[in-house]
Amino acid sequence: MAGSAYTNTCLLYPSLFLILFFSFMNHQFHYFPCPHNSTVPNHRQVSGTYCNDDLQNASKNSTTLDHVPTMQVKKNQFEKLEDGLARARAAIREAARSRSYMSYKEDFVPTGSVYINPYSFHQSHIEMEKRFRIWSYEEGEPPLFHKGPMNDIYSIEGQFMDELELSGKSPFVAKDPDEAVAFSLPISVVNVVRFVYRPYTTYSRVRLQNIVEDYISIISKKYPYWNRSNGADHFLVSCHDWAPDISAGHPKPFKNFIRVLCNANCSEGFQPVRDVSLPEIKLPFGKLGPPLLTHSPKNRSIFAFFAGGGHGDVRKILFKHWKNKDKEIQVHNYLPKTLNYTHLMAQSKFCLCPSGYEVASPRVVEAIYAGCVPVIISDSYALPFSDVLDWSKFSVHVPVARIPELKAILQSVSEHEYLRKQKRVMQVQRHFVINRPAKPFDMLHMVLHSVWLRRLNLRLLK
Ligand SMILES: *[C@@H]1O[C@H](CO)[C@@H](O)[C@H](O)[C@H]1NC(C)=O
Ligand SMILES: *[C@@H]1O[C@H](CO)[C@@H](O)[C@H](O)[C@H]1NC(C)=O
Ligand SMILES: *[C@@H]1O[C@H](CO)[C@@H](O)[C@H](O)[C@H]1NC(C)=O
Ligand SMILES: *[C@@H]1O[C@H](CO)[C@@H](O)[C@H](O)[C@H]1NC(C)=O
Ligand SMILES: *[C@@H]1O[C@H](CO)[C@@H](O)[C@H](O)[C@H]1NC(C)=O
Ligand SMILES: *[C@@H]1O[C@H](CO)[C@@H](O)[C@H](O)[C@H]1NC(C)=O
Repeated sequence: MAGSAYTNTCLLYPSLFLILFFSFMNHQFHYFPCPHNSTVPNHRQVSGTYCNDDLQNASKNSTTLDHVPTMQVKKNQFEKLEDGLARARAAIREAARSRSYMSYKEDFVPTGSVYINPYSFHQSHIEMEKRFRIWSYEEGEPPLFHKGPMNDIYSIEGQFMDELELSGKSPFVAKDPDEAVAFSLPISVVNVVRFVYRPYTTYSRVRLQNIVEDYISIISKKYPYWNRSNGADHFLVSCHDWAPDISAGHPKPFKNFIRVLCNANCSEGFQPVRDVSLPEIKLPFGKLGPPLLTHSPKNRSIFAFFAGGGHGDVRKILFKHWKNKDKEIQVHNYLPKTLNYTHLMAQSKFCLCPSGYEVASPRVVEAIYAGCVPVIISDSYALPFSDVLDWSKFSVHVPVARIPELKAILQSVSEHEYLRKQKRVMQVQRHFVINRPAKPFDMLHMVLHSVWLRRLNLRLLK
């Protein structure tokens, strides 16, 4: 299964032996790692090893440079952390191998086919709670740093930062950076665009890139952490459309850097093995989400539903083929004010989630909340939490080129299959709910878990 190059390199450093669940799943269903694009390279693959070279070298260096006495404590601590991670990998692997839940610490135990592997996910979540500690650098002042939007469509960015940095309630916060397993760059791309670019005279991404690069330059001079891993245990969370461009100016320093992005377009450099797909969620002011609805699947009078702006090419194609064309496929270019969007979603069997200006759409989460089976109409979109969730079990994917066949595709889902999918939509709701403080298996924990898996450099196999 694993290539020989992988074995050779890893065995040189047994304490860092990375247990990898190499997966060929993308041949079975197209949601993971990259729809229709399994050839997209990623650094860990390209390195020929799936091993995280930089973290490995960092640890190697820390054992050889023992002539610096003040470094001794830190070195040992880093090695201890790596040993802990190795134990976590082993426990996750064992859960997957034995197909059993090795401990019942959690109230909730994931079961069923919506999970790629419920056993390893369960164990991985337990290991994460035990060992994952994050240091957010303290440099920088709000509003560009440490503070992001708390509502509207980019809210996940601010909620995540707030949970980690300001709430004082997250158990994942490291007491000091030497205890940290991963490092967060607390930069709000939304606020950079909002404050640095206003008034909007340019859309050039250079200012944004400079801010991020300067920040990295500061923390990599002041602290040893960035250099020891070349950024491989560092991440930044942003839901803004421009966020993927942070690394476009000078890609090299970002080679290993974990970008946590709503705009997870595999055709634009998003690499599912390194980067994390962040769900987009539209939070009304002062709320943590739209209502969770439990309308019966048997009593949904609308076959398929969409309402929204004609943003981007995908929606133009959707409108061309389906707006006012078919009573069963309700496609609205915005909804009349008299109609209730949430209510209509709850009355629908299928909720269409076409990409807009960017691949992600808050409709995916809205559909899940409304108990409506999401129909993902997009190409190259790496769906959130695809390491853990098998989207093919609770959604329908329609490639953009097949929009004309939309109705036939949806009609080909039998009533029995529909009911199963709808039930699983209800089952995954918990993973898309925001709690503050965050709770096990909710959306913020799922985002953390996605980062955790990349830090472990581990994939969960079926
Ligand atoms: C890590 O070490 C290996 C072997 O010592 C070397 O070939 C590789 O270039 C190093 N990687 C980095 C990023 O320093
Ligand atoms: C990290 O590397 C950069 C570039 O090589 C260097 O300027 C910086 O001083 C290094 N940081 C530390 C803490 O040694
Ligand atoms: C390890 O040390 C070597 C030489 O001391 C240095 O060139 C290399 O960049 C270091 N690697 C890391 C990842 O710190
Ligand atoms: C079906 O929906 C209609 C309208 O929303 C409602 O009046 C009716 O009670 C529902 N029936 C069932 C069985 O849920
Ligand atoms: C819209 O419908 C939802 C779900 O039925 C309901 O919770 C909400 O109160 C409605 N909003 C308005 C403005 O009527
Ligand atoms: C994804 O990226 C490709 C390549 O740049 C682009 O053509 C496509 O429009 C993007 N998708 C969306 C929905 O923006």
